[in-house]
Amino acid sequence: MARQKKGSDLVRFGISIPSDLIQAFDKYIAEREYKNRSEAIRDLIREKLVEKEWDLEVQDQVVIGTITYVYDHHKRELVDEIIEIQHDFPEEVIVTQHVHLDHHNCLEVAIVRGQAQNLRRLSYKLQALKGIKHCKLTMTTTGASLS
Ligand code: NI
Repeated sequence: MARQKKGSDLVRFGISIPSDLIQAFDKYIAEREYKNRSEAIRDLIREKLVEKEWDLEVQDQVVIGTITYVYDHHKRELVDEIIEIQHDFPEEVIVTQHVHLDHHNCLEVAIVRGQAQNLRRLSYKLQALKGIKHCKLTMTTTGASLS
């Protein structure tokens, strides 16, 4: 990737972010000795883009994995939206397990199988829902190609 000359082509933009999230992020960047938020955010963006590039090479492979997500079940439409998305992927979602974490929060794990690109699409759709606090897709192999 070409390095930008210092100070050239920089774009500034504002982000709205909950205060507890930015506090946690400031702790994260302090531990990693970043001098400011901008450099930490640039690195996170680069990391995600590299991950995406690598992912493209395996998108047709059938993999098995889990999608783990945490959400507040009091947001009623959110629960309906999650179920709606799961029904859009009937082949991929094998089973879901639900745990009531506390008064507000639920944790759900979906065991999924299918083409990597479909599992990723499913995970992205869940992650994009407002009210999903954390969503993580973990992919592993079906073992078919391992001896
Ligand atoms: Ni629950």
